Amino acid sequence: MKDAFQLKTDLTFLNHGSFGACPKPVFENFQDFQREMEQDPVYFIQKKFAMHLAKAKEALATFINCNVNDFIFTPNPTVGVNTIMRSLNLQEGDEILATNHEYGAMDRTWNFYCKKSGAKYVRQPITLPIISKEQIIEEFWQGVSAKTKIIFLNQISSTTALIFPVKEICEKARELGITTIIDGAHVPGHIELDIKALQPDYYTGTLHKWMLAPKGSSFLYVRKELQNQLDPLVVSWGYDSLAPSESPFLDLHEYQGTNDNAAYLCTPAVIGFLHQHNWVQKSDAAKKMVLQNYPRFCALLNSNPIAPLSAEFFGQMASIPVRTSKPEELKDLLFDKYKIQIPVMLLNNEVYLRYSINAYNSQADLDVLYGALADIIQTTTIIEV
Ligand SMILES: Cc1ncc(COP(=O)(O)O)c(C=O)c1O
Repeated sequence: MKDAFQLKTDLTFLNHGSFGACPKPVFENFQDFQREMEQDPVYFIQKKFAMHLAKAKEALATFINCNVNDFIFTPNPTVGVNTIMRSLNLQEGDEILATNHEYGAMDRTWNFYCKKSGAKYVRQPITLPIISKEQIIEEFWQGVSAKTKIIFLNQISSTTALIFPVKEICEKARELGITTIIDGAHVPGHIELDIKALQPDYYTGTLHKWMLAPKGSSFLYVRKELQNQLDPLVVSWGYDSLAPSESPFLDLHEYQGTNDNAAYLCTPAVIGFLHQHNWVQKSDAAKKMVLQNYPRFCALLNSNPIAPLSAEFFGQMASIPVRTSKPEELKDLLFDKYKIQIPVMLLNNEVYLRYSINAYNSQADLDVLYGALADIIQTTTIIEV
């Protein structure tokens, strides 16, 4: 599928996970919307935008299985999660239970709101290597207390690229009456997402990662009963609306000033592309390639798997521990000398090399990575084995 994408041909691109990659037909649809807007911005924004947005929302609602009025588009999950946090009315002593695998921007946002309110952000350690799903669940709940008001959990972690058992955790949280916020940034288009089955209180996911949308397309789902408690991050015409709809939630959150929202409007083209190219099959093939290659990289780097090698924990990305005191230097070397785009990330004092595989990759890309790492091990001291 390399020809369908716009990636540089001389680049070994193994970092779909950070910002995705948008295929040509979807990008053309994106630019068509932008062109149409510039031909008559007033007509497009005031007369046509709502109709295109409704179509985009219907397509996404079917894809993630939720009611069309229960989510809003946001540019990214950070905006979604900030919107939630701002309205939580956290009090001194309240606790937010998360893991020590959450995304750095999310950790920072929680720290910000906790500092303001006196609440406590609990990064419950989940020990590596993972032994089983039960181990994650058990260790996670060791962090709960009578003060736990919120559970915040990534469904697929960023640095460790592991799938977390959010269904089981949401179920128990409901029993305990604890609000759940699920960070599913990596989930849509990657592993199955069924919001109605999962029943989270809040869920955020991106379209611009694994659904292949243009950058700046994500969503925030909010359970109906909580929608009226949610203040908009930016107040605009939806407050004291001149033409209120049946949903104050949508009025307040869907219009937050003039913007280029063409990325949202591409959603029918995005989902059309995934269906047209049997993306579930392509994703399965990529997942197989991820797992097949993992032991080989572990052997080269003298590392051990961070979880059992199965679809229960790994999707289209995998992280391997690397012993280096210079993660930035290693990342830059892989890019500058070997033209490999791949992240090397630090989390909880461990460094991980994370490769992502998508339908535009082939075994040859991972062989290039293997060759580069072998060369670095032989010729430098950046990696210790
Ligand atoms: C787990 C996780 N959450 C959230 C995000 C979204 O970050 P942003 O809002 O900066 O796009 C990412 C991006 O990589 C992520 O991996």
